[in-house]
Amino acid sequence: MCPQVKVKDPSLAERGRLQIEWAERHMPVLLKIRERFSKERPLEGLKIAASLHVTKETAVLVRTLVAGGASVALAPCNPLSTQDDVAAALAEEGVYVYAWRGMNEREYYNAIGNALSIEPDITMDDGADIISTFHKLVLKIEDDATRYAKEILGERDFEKMISKVIGGTEETTTGVIRIKAMERDGVLRYPVIAVNESYTKYLFDNRYGTGQSTWDGILRATNILVAGKIVVVAGYGWVGRGVAMRARGLGARRVIVTEVNPLRALEAVMDGFEVMPMIKAAEIGDIFITATGNMKVIRKEHVEKMKDGAILANTGHFNVEIWVPDIEELAVSKREIRPGVTEYTLRNGRRIYLLAEGRLVNLACAEGHPSEVMDMSFANQALAVEYLVKNRGKLERKVYKLPDELDISVAKLKLDAMGVEIDQLTEEQKKYLSSWTLGT
Ligand SMILES: NC(=O)c1ccc[n+]([C@@H]2O[C@H](COP(=O)([O-])OP(=O)(O)OC[C@H]3O[C@@H](n4cnc5c(N)ncnc54)[C@H](O)[C@@H]3O)[C@@H](O)[C@H]2O)c1
Repeated sequence: MCPQVKVKDPSLAERGRLQIEWAERHMPVLLKIRERFSKERPLEGLKIAASLHVTKETAVLVRTLVAGGASVALAPCNPLSTQDDVAAALAEEGVYVYAWRGMNEREYYNAIGNALSIEPDITMDDGADIISTFHKLVLKIEDDATRYAKEILGERDFEKMISKVIGGTEETTTGVIRIKAMERDGVLRYPVIAVNESYTKYLFDNRYGTGQSTWDGILRATNILVAGKIVVVAGYGWVGRGVAMRARGLGARRVIVTEVNPLRALEAVMDGFEVMPMIKAAEIGDIFITATGNMKVIRKEHVEKMKDGAILANTGHFNVEIWVPDIEELAVSKREIRPGVTEYTLRNGRRIYLLAEGRLVNLACAEGHPSEVMDMSFANQALAVEYLVKNRGKLERKVYKLPDELDISVAKLKLDAMGVEIDQLTEEQKKYLSSWTLGT
């Protein structure tokens, strides 16, 4: 039986098509791959279960996979990030989309179950919800995720279903951490390509993509002036670096970084940022942005110290970085003061403003990363699927990085599309670089 199709409003399809067209205009690398896929059909007959943010850029990826011969069942990877017009357009094109903005937890895992009901050859994740739910079903682990997924899937032979999977792909840092934990615990049942570990993914998507789109989300939600503000960025990984860099560019008076890793903290200091523990930063900051992939980074003891008017946003994958239950506990009242902005009045009389319920601010309050950056991330996704198919049966039940030559091919295609030329090594230079006898 085919997966179900369920979107908010099918009549939004025309608007969605225009959005996708706009994204395609800015995704030349993926379009090049699509052109080749259309001719070579490397994914002929394959079924892909995907859990990705349902955005216009994802639509460009899905069209590319379809051009390669695959059928795709698409679930969201966040309850708040679906662009309903894009979902409608994809549904009209025959993609099994089950997604709308503002799903509750049950609907969200129904969607994951629906994607799995395609009985996939490949799983594609952003945050590991499909792969972890699938493995829990196989291992008969009962929780809300499997219960709700089974409302759509019913009882099936999940063992048989997983045994035919060729492999999976994972888009983000947090998802890769989860899948590596599955590998470590000896439960991972098929090879997974960690797309996040490609240079052409994290150096650009995590840093420049999130650096810009996080601010886009904050500004669309609040329309505040960043100039003159004190910004606190938790985590100085690839995402945190981008967010801090752009905070400075927008004119923040001070940019403070909090870290737990001495190397990253040192790097932040040398990059010219102040570094201090969150407990100190909490008293000082006007805007707080979490980007750690960790839980409870901003919690009760921090919130209690914050100034009246402090704004809190998260751009890490899950909604656990700002510990919302603590804010709820400290608050005497709350109201939505603008779309995406919840005002909490605390017992100490101060008001703090939480954006997007602590979920990914760039996707919940804006449109996620610009297409130019997703061009490279999703080129890696498309090539990762092709790589899995070409190496069917040869890979172990492990997490792999995409081979460097494919990663570099994405960079080359991007430079070509941007009209940027670079130098080539001369024969003499190649010899010099590979020799231990030349030079003094
Ligand atoms: N918003 C988006 O569109 C988007 C895009 C890419 C990645 N992400 C997500 O952003 C998160 C960060 O990704 P990344 O690639 O920068 O990861 P990373 O591993 O490079 O960086 C995370 C940093 O956070 C630090 N950290 C961990 N716990 C901390 C704590 N309690 N206090 C302060 N710092 C702490 C770590 O030491 C590390 O330096 C992940 O959840 C990732 O999935 C979101």
